Amino acid sequence: MKMNPWTLSVLLLLAGPLGADPDWHVEYPESFCVVEGSTATIPCSFTHPKVKKGTGVMLRVERVVWCTNPELCKKPVYYVYDSSKVRADSRFRYLGDLVRNCTLKIIKTLKRDAATYRFRFLTNAEGYAGPKGVRVTVSNGEVVKVRSSVTDNAVKEGGQVTLNCTSACSFHQLDVHWYRNGHALSEKGSALHLSCLTNDNAGDYTCSLDSSGQKTSAPWSLVVLEDEAGGVVKVRSSVTDNVVKEGGQVILTCTSNCSFHQLDVHWYRNGHALSETGPALNLSNLTNNNTGNYTCSLDSSRQKTSAPWSLVVVEDEGKHNVTVTGKEKSDWRLPVSVVLLAVFLLLLAGLVFAKRYSNQI
Ligand SMILES: *[C@@H]1O[C@H](CO)[C@@H](O)[C@H](O)[C@H]1NC(C)=O
Ligand SMILES: *[C@@H]1O[C@H](CO)[C@@H](O)[C@H](O)[C@H]1NC(C)=O
Ligand SMILES: *[C@@H]1O[C@H](CO)[C@@H](O)[C@H](O)[C@H]1NC(C)=O
Ligand SMILES: *[C@@H]1O[C@H](CO)[C@@H](O)[C@H](O)[C@H]1NC(C)=O
Ligand SMILES: *[C@@H]1O[C@H](CO)[C@@H](O)[C@H](O)[C@H]1NC(C)=O
Ligand SMILES: *[C@@H]1O[C@H](CO)[C@@H](O)[C@H](O)[C@H]1NC(C)=O
Ligand SMILES: *[C@@H]1O[C@H](CO)[C@@H](O)[C@H](O)[C@H]1NC(C)=O
Ligand SMILES: *[C@@H]1O[C@H](CO)[C@@H](O)[C@H](O)[C@H]1NC(C)=O
Repeated sequence: MKMNPWTLSVLLLLAGPLGADPDWHVEYPESFCVVEGSTATIPCSFTHPKVKKGTGVMLRVERVVWCTNPELCKKPVYYVYDSSKVRADSRFRYLGDLVRNCTLKIIKTLKRDAATYRFRFLTNAEGYAGPKGVRVTVSNGEVVKVRSSVTDNAVKEGGQVTLNCTSACSFHQLDVHWYRNGHALSEKGSALHLSCLTNDNAGDYTCSLDSSGQKTSAPWSLVVLEDEAGGVVKVRSSVTDNVVKEGGQVILTCTSNCSFHQLDVHWYRNGHALSETGPALNLSNLTNNNTGNYTCSLDSSRQKTSAPWSLVVVEDEGKHNVTVTGKEKSDWRLPVSVVLLAVFLLLLAGLVFAKRYSNQI
């Protein structure tokens, strides 16, 4: 859409009272603490009127500078950052823009960087600097510490822990790196949240305030205790009773609250791998051979393994009756025949004895 100048001025008149024309202003924190050698991102924002007072000239930012000069960055001065110069101190990076954001990043802060910094922006008509400035203090950062959300460093499987990296500065805006047993973790930020703990998470945790690993904390050891009652993986069964009749069916499901990367489910009976894989194990037409302790695991290395679920397959009652009846019969006949045989032998012995005795007489 093409606007003629008249339409444009009407629009500007309308816009005026509604969204009040912003004043000249720079907003930054009063002070900012940085750990020596670490990276600091100093938040900053600015505003200016849209039009130069009394002239109707539209204002447009053309140049932005950051300086440590108390004279509000007026010449002659050394700028730590100057958008009009290619060469600047490469440790000072401007993350802002020419509209409203004047965020400044200081990389690998040095002791001598401690100063009050001011931001100045120059438009096509006039310039402005935030008078108060931001006072940057540099701490030697020797006391970087890991603080944990638990008092004891032994945590049960499936549990959780939050580790905070703290130092003399409060530094939520700094680059914090985390390491386990010296290996960098992908998580960044002053707090490291670990949940669904498994033995994989056990180890020595350290944090550091720069990517080079200098300014590193003392290690904090995490011990993950085995949880007999289940841990992070559980076997759920389709039957409430562990005792199932022959020919019956049981469906076992491997469940977990935690979403792990590897969702390969493996099944084991008495510790021996079964050929079936997948979240559900369908055991039908049960025989005594299916009796055993079932476990499932969420990776082939068996690290995330459930507690055992024990299945006992019992003979069908019908068959059982027949067997028991048969046994009862033989149990009843054997003693009777033994007694009869004994009586018969006694009688026989009696007869022989009687015959001999009568012969002698
Ligand atoms: C300013 O820019 C920085 C870096 O791109 C960004 O992190 C921050 O959120 C921005 N601030 C505002 C108020 O938009
Ligand atoms: C860790 O930091 C978070 C905020 O970043 C805070 O809420 C929590 O209380 C801190 N925990 C400890 C143990 O310092
Ligand atoms: C699942 O989450 C609930 C609530 O968060 C917890 O009580 C339960 O122990 C968890 N179960 C497992 C297997 O982690
Ligand atoms: C389990 O297996 C039996 C026999 O193979 C089959 O009839 C039944 O439908 C299966 N059940 C499920 C839930 O897969
Ligand atoms: C169950 O197993 C028995 C003996 O192993 C076999 O004779 C029968 O055919 C099986 N039934 C089914 C439905 O698989
Ligand atoms: C049960 O196991 C025994 C010994 O391994 C085997 O001889 C028999 O065939 C199995 N029975 C069934 C029903 O699989
Ligand atoms: C299954 O586990 C129970 C107790 O956990 C044990 O008494 C039993 O002997 C185990 N059965 C087998 C076949 O290993
Ligand atoms: C097995 O015995 C029970 C009681 O002892 C009886 O109720 C049931 O009917 C019998 N089953 C068969 C198949 O005989």
